[in-house]
Amino acid sequence: MVSRVIPVDNFDLVIFGGTGDLARRKILPGLFRRFLSGQMTEGSRIIGAARGEMDDEGFRTLVREAIAEFGGREKNETDCIERFVERLHYVPIDAMGEGGWTQLRDLMRLDVVRAFYFSVAPSLFGAIAERLHKYEIANADSRIVVEKPFGRDLATARALNATLAEHFNETQIYRIDHYLGKETVQNLMAVRFGNVLFEPLWNNHYVDHIQITVAETVGVGGRGSYYDKSGAMRDMVQNHLMQLLCLIAMEPPSKFEADEVRNEKLKVIRALQPVENHHIVRGQYDAHEGGQSYRQDAENPRSFTESFIAMKCHINNWRWAGVPFYIRTGKKMKARSSEIAVVFKDLGHSIFEGDEARHRNILAIRLQPNEGIDLQVTIKEPGPGGMRLIDVPLDMTFSEALGPDAEDVTDAYERLIMDVIRGNQTLFMRGDEVEAAWAWTDPIIQGWEKRNDVPKLYDAGSAGPDDALMLMHRDGRRWRDIKG
Ligand code: BG6
Repeated sequence: MVSRVIPVDNFDLVIFGGTGDLARRKILPGLFRRFLSGQMTEGSRIIGAARGEMDDEGFRTLVREAIAEFGGREKNETDCIERFVERLHYVPIDAMGEGGWTQLRDLMRLDVVRAFYFSVAPSLFGAIAERLHKYEIANADSRIVVEKPFGRDLATARALNATLAEHFNETQIYRIDHYLGKETVQNLMAVRFGNVLFEPLWNNHYVDHIQITVAETVGVGGRGSYYDKSGAMRDMVQNHLMQLLCLIAMEPPSKFEADEVRNEKLKVIRALQPVENHHIVRGQYDAHEGGQSYRQDAENPRSFTESFIAMKCHINNWRWAGVPFYIRTGKKMKARSSEIAVVFKDLGHSIFEGDEARHRNILAIRLQPNEGIDLQVTIKEPGPGGMRLIDVPLDMTFSEALGPDAEDVTDAYERLIMDVIRGNQTLFMRGDEVEAAWAWTDPIIQGWEKRNDVPKLYDAGSAGPDDALMLMHRDGRRWRDIKG
């Protein structure tokens, strides 16, 4: 495959929280990969800003170590690493006070794109935004990047949006949901809107139901104090699964442009029906085969936080009326596997009899791992014995079909940061989208709190609580197997 890397304009990117976990694991190694590819130009710079005292050389050492620990095969590119770290600077900064801000202002250049990544707790967003303004560090063309969690309910999300809006326009605010930066998530749009084949079938005349699964094998160990206050609903459903649902369910935008796409996603969220309690299963993993339970991982022996959730949702519009969307996500599941499966209806009339009449088409889009698309089609079983039908996969695993370049898939974060520099907001959440998602989520969470809802236990390494299986069995359907 020919590389089509187009260099972005020169930039100064300030990373608040530049020495933190996300910066070390994702942002900085990702930027190094973009540098290696030629997309980040030699004239661009990255400025780490955090509370700790450190000089440029200290920060460069930290970044060399981060690349060695979290980089992929590019960590051996020693010469390039040295050229990359020359572009790094560091400013000790007091987010809530006045220290470091003048120094930061003096460091910034006028003739390049200025971007500010808030890789810090949301409680600091307001203070940083205000100081960027007060010290005239940000200008009308500057961009800010904010991370989830974007609020913990509608009220806090609104307050956060209002705080940012005091100093920045919506066109300057880039709210990251890293799922939108994943190659295969973008492929959802390519598959739907780049092929004539699927769109005519993409509605309640042909689709029986849709399943969205994001299963993880990791537990919450190491980040229990954050997670225990969030749970799967706030951590995964309100954002990542909601975005997947939007991309699957939205109407075709008239153009692949930021507001066109985001308008259509917003309509989906607003059309979501409130979910009835008996259509929701909350789970919490229990110790199994020597592993720790959720409560041990979260260091909270009385926790009722969910590490798993399954639910049946409906979208109240013409296209999807009557089509259930079953979504589920969980930690410590039997395999790491994320996929979306569009299960089509039975034939209106089959010319085959008995069991041979019962076959279905399923389009499965595997998001991770083994990224690819698999269309289950019905064919005649080869050989003698009459007209026996079987279902076989028309399977396209991207790494096989597209060769080694497909494995070199850009990490979500680096792609999204390049989009920030390019000024392309298509893959970022707009403020009203985030608020609409919370407006749908809030009553569900409030219902649990009011009832002191207790999540069902499930064995670590399983497919979640049995009640989740029942959620579909009751409807005469079943979940697809979770396979890594
Ligand atoms: C994060 C959640 O946003 O996404 C984590 O906070 C989760 O709990 C992670 O593990 C999953 O991301 P990915 O890219 O590994 O699927």
